[in-house]
Amino acid sequence: MHSIAKFSPQPNNEYAFDEIFNVDSSYMPNGVGKTFTRNIWYYAVAGNDLKPGKMIAKTMLGEPVLVGRDSNGVAFALKDVCPHQAVPLSKGHFDGKQVVCCFHGWAFNTSGVCEQIPSLSECQDQAICSKFKAKSYPCREVQGNVWVFFGDRTENLPDVPEAPGLEGLSSDKTKSTLFIPTHIDYAVAGLIDPAHVPYVHNAWWWRSAKSMKEKVKKYVPEATGWTMVKHKPAAHSIAFKLIGRFIETEISFRLPGCRLEYIQFNGRTILSGITTLTPIDDTHTEMNHTTYWTIPFIAPIVTPIVNYFVKEFLGQDKRIAEMQEIGLRSNPKLSMFVKDAGMPGAWYFQLKKEWSESQSEGRAFENPIKESVLRWRS
Ligand code: FES
Ligand SMILES: [Fe+2]
Repeated sequence: MHSIAKFSPQPNNEYAFDEIFNVDSSYMPNGVGKTFTRNIWYYAVAGNDLKPGKMIAKTMLGEPVLVGRDSNGVAFALKDVCPHQAVPLSKGHFDGKQVVCCFHGWAFNTSGVCEQIPSLSECQDQAICSKFKAKSYPCREVQGNVWVFFGDRTENLPDVPEAPGLEGLSSDKTKSTLFIPTHIDYAVAGLIDPAHVPYVHNAWWWRSAKSMKEKVKKYVPEATGWTMVKHKPAAHSIAFKLIGRFIETEISFRLPGCRLEYIQFNGRTILSGITTLTPIDDTHTEMNHTTYWTIPFIAPIVTPIVNYFVKEFLGQDKRIAEMQEIGLRSNPKLSMFVKDAGMPGAWYFQLKKEWSESQSEGRAFENPIKESVLRWRS
């Protein structure tokens, strides 16, 4: 039996929901579980980094994965272990059609089926080759990013989360990658936590911890997560004070660990971003951020500025995660969710639990989040 940690909001009329808030601790990183969300897509690599004929070796969810692109431009993913005697397939070579293992030369197509075993004599049945298969993962390329599906489902796969607001618009993009030294659950909690912002992201050009303001935001359940509905950003920063009244932003979260955001200027989407978290293993997570902007002719000016700000922001999150990792070594008992600012973190664990249960019970996912107004200071 897993213990259930109960988080019951104090009586407070400002809550838009009245249910006791339950989070099953087995879905929390310091609980029994240490689980990953499965039967879902995880960001693997940027499409630009994967030229035809190239393969990239990664560890995702603790599994060795080879992501490649064939000579027709189609991305694929295989388990990076030769089914013959376990040498990583990525140590061999790939000609755009077959991955050839460097140990005995077995050759696999991009679906993982063995097509050639060089040691077979001419009088031996070559058909035996196709009995051997390297595990293959569903793989999709969406908005220039390559995603890999982890789970046992083979059909009716869910949608890949997409950066919003780009419909019908051409866009340029840049990508930043960094490593977070904790389980994905802590990385997600950090990604969606509004309370750390004034303390962690306090640069002179952005804001200081002194400029805390009361925030009231409306959240609605959507797909496998929620959306903080479109609003004007708070005028903490010099930049936003100048142009803030022309700007609106909408921020969403989707399982397994994706933050989506778009910014509109005078009603036109100018910037859209997707931040993804992919577990490397139980205690390491890869964060990738892709920024898209939709005014191509200013790309040469915008690119270095956007890259600078994204690197600064994510670097601040990474530094705090490195400190958090030190504290987590003693496996402490935590009070992770306190009042409204902690609610998105609690929702994440609710979503994760419902996703897992709906998958194992073979039923449709029912978003457990209720439309809510959350209130906090940041
Ligand atoms: S280990 Fe790969 S061909 Fe033998
Ligand atoms: Fe942050």
